[in-house]
Parts: sequence; structure tokens; C-alpha cells
Amino acid sequence: MIRDNNMKILSICGSPRKGNSEAIISRLKEIFEQKGIENEIILLREKNIQRCRGCVEYCNKNLKCLHKDDMPEIIQKMITADGYVFVSPNYFAMPPGLFKDFIDKCSVLYTAYDFTKKPDLSKKRALVITVGTDKEFIDNCRDNISKWFLETLRIKVVAEKSFCSRSELKGNYNDIFENKVNSNIDEELEKMADELCDSLKIVNKAS
Ligand SMILES: Cc1cc2nc3c(=O)[nH]c(=O)nc-3n(C[C@H](O)[C@H](O)[C@H](O)COP(=O)(O)O)c2cc1C
Repeated sequence: MIRDNNMKILSICGSPRKGNSEAIISRLKEIFEQKGIENEIILLREKNIQRCRGCVEYCNKNLKCLHKDDMPEIIQKMITADGYVFVSPNYFAMPPGLFKDFIDKCSVLYTAYDFTKKPDLSKKRALVITVGTDKEFIDNCRDNISKWFLETLRIKVVAEKSFCSRSELKGNYNDIFENKVNSNIDEELEKMADELCDSLKIVNKAS
């Protein structure tokens, strides 16, 4: 039973640097905490994530990767969280390799031979946010990530957004909130946080 004050949101940041994605994910954490909602942030740049080597005969059978890294801990947190926030930069209309490695390693969540052993993620809900300089490419990147959630993990994305950012931050990690490129970013993030919380309440009521 999810109550407001024990709803757990897990935020995952796909940027290899401290920058715009991290500033957004931190702002969302402030918003969730003001609502009394627990929010843990995972910075993938601080984690050891080995690249998927495609040895599916092992992971499909054992539901874990043969190569040791921090993914089992991240996947366990994904299973126990109610909702997710994923924020990623756009690198050429795709997420950066770091985030793509994370996506590939999540395959243990859906490729099991024995379907009864697969975790049920159908009641989870997610927000997807991408940042970058070129509007068309950031939208493509966002759509690719959302498609992965919906069609592979079967997780409903309740709100998705792409924000324009500057590449060179010159040490100002808060640039995305101060450069006036996204005039309503604070209101948009507040609205997205509400949408995630409201959708989780609906899921909870129905179950
Ligand atoms: C290798 C690389 C490729 C990039 N490709 C694009 C791109 O194709 N289009 C775009 O709009 N921005 C591109 N960018 C800019 C980043 O999306 C932008 O700097 C973003 O703010 C980075 O997010 P971060 O500050 O959270 O790391 C690229 C940056 C890098 C380092």
C-alpha cells in the first residue's frame, strides 16, 4: 500500500559529468522532498557499469549478469521503488554510452526464459527528461528512452520533456535554471513531479 509519505521515487542520472541533467534531478529531489516523498538519486557516473557483452545464454537463464558491477544493486532499487525519474543528455539523438550501458544491462529485467521469475514492473510509473542544444535531437533522444520503457520494460511514462541546455557550463552547474533558455522550467518540473505522484496514487487505489 503506497501512502504519500512512503512513496519511493528513484532518480537515475545518465550524464557522465556534473551538469544540466544533475541540476534537474537535484531540483526534482527538492520538489519531492517538499511533498514529503522519499527520493534517492543514482548518478550513473559514480557507478561501475560494465558494458553488456551479449552473453544472453547466461543472463536469460540466471537473471543476472556474469560480469560483476554495480547493476544488481541498482536493479534491486528499481524493483523496490514505486516511481522513477530518468534524466539524460542527448548525444547525437541518443543517450550517452554510460546511460546506454545501463539500459542494456537492464535486460535481465525482461529477457528471462522463465517468465514467472521476472519482476512485475507494470505498476511503476516514470518521468523521462532529456537535455541538449538541438531541439529535434533532444526530442528524438527522449522518445527513444520512453520507447524503451514502454515497449521493453512495460513501464508507463506519465510525463516526458526535453529542455534546451548549453554545452559549456563554465563552472556554473545551475546554468539550465539561470540561462533563461527554458523560461518555465521550474513550473514544468513541479508539474511533472505532480503527474508522477498522482499517477502512483491512482495505481495504488486500483490495486
Ligand atoms: C559527445 C557529445 C555529443 C553531443 N551531441 C549533441 C547533439 O547531437 N545535439 C545536441 O543538441 N547536443 C549535443 N550535445 C550537447 C549535450 O547534449 C549538452 O551539452 C547537454 O547539456 C549535456 O548534458 P549534461 O550537462 O547533463 O551533461 C553533445 C555533447 C557531447 C559531449
